[in-house]
Amino acid sequence: MPPLVRTPTPPARPANPVEDDAHVTEPLPFERPVQASRKPAADGPALGPTGRPMPVIPEPRPVTAHGNARVVSMCNQKGGVGKTTTTINLGASLVEQGRKVLLVDFDPQGSLSVGLGLNPHEMDLTVYNLLMERDVTLDDVVVPSGVPGMDLLPSNIDLSAAEVQLVHEVAREQTLQRVLAPALAEYDVILIDCQPSLGLLTVNALTASHGVIVPLECEYFALRGVALLKTTIDKVKERLNPGLEIDGVLGTMFDGRTLHSREVMERLVQAWGDKVFHTVIRRTVKFSDSTVAGEPITTYASSSAGADSYRQLAKEVLARWPAE
Ligand SMILES: Nc1ncnc2c1ncn2[C@@H]1O[C@H](COP(=O)(O)OP(=O)(O)OP(=O)(O)O)[C@@H](O)[C@H]1O
Ligand SMILES: [Mg+2]
Repeated sequence: MPPLVRTPTPPARPANPVEDDAHVTEPLPFERPVQASRKPAADGPALGPTGRPMPVIPEPRPVTAHGNARVVSMCNQKGGVGKTTTTINLGASLVEQGRKVLLVDFDPQGSLSVGLGLNPHEMDLTVYNLLMERDVTLDDVVVPSGVPGMDLLPSNIDLSAAEVQLVHEVAREQTLQRVLAPALAEYDVILIDCQPSLGLLTVNALTASHGVIVPLECEYFALRGVALLKTTIDKVKERLNPGLEIDGVLGTMFDGRTLHSREVMERLVQAWGDKVFHTVIRRTVKFSDSTVAGEPITTYASSSAGADSYRQLAKEVLARWPAE
């Protein structure tokens, strides 16, 4: 008789995985800073939604001339975390601050283009043509976004072919950087909406960027995968784009009423420190409604809390950018 093979008993799962480090299969991307007390000093500033004292965010300086654009990628390989929503609404809020903005739809799903009211089947030229065809210029592809002061480089499913075709190109990682170069002198901010993957398109976006914003849903599983994202950003910085900076990590779909959201937020701050924006974006159906309407929440529901959050994010982002 063959001996019975016993499978080892799996270790017991912790009651609350958020509280148990050992359960997180990936290492945290940063050294954990010493935790400050959550209680503010009696006369200190009130705590913000991230559990840190809320600073006064300065009013941005007015712009007198456009150009010298800062290029920023919205990047997270996890799907549905708010990359596209942040691209549209941060863009629209920066326009309210007098900035001239170009949005780049760099996702073959084309959600950014659809979210601004474009029909994916009625686009003559898209980012795909700009990347792959030498005789197509930026001006041929740029369309108005519907928000005065904000333009769009649209995309549709054609872009998925670029991921494969670019592999054979010389300087394949720098293709987006090359085609965006003429736009730098015209705009103040260029926001690139990445697809949920860390493939060649995302590497192109990171190579073309000065900064990265990482939207992260305030939900436990959203924390997984951030180590890989950080490694990818570090590799691009080391090999392709030494100036690349993480501009910030944005907590999205936050629900301050749940302990879970607050715990995840606390965990984010432990892992990413001051990179976490003080501004968080709360969960509200207004975002889905404004997508259906094909416009930013700042115009669709101008006085809503969601619109205000993105306006505040725009100020916080501007305060962090070096040239501002
Ligand atoms: N703060 C929020 N509250 C509620 N719903 C939101 C919020 N932000 C985004 N959404 C909704 O969540 C869905 C996913 O958002 P979004 O498309 O911005 O994510 P994404 O990261 O771009 O997704 P993908 O990875 O597929 O490109 C959308 O339906 C959007 O309307
Ligand atoms: Mg998206």
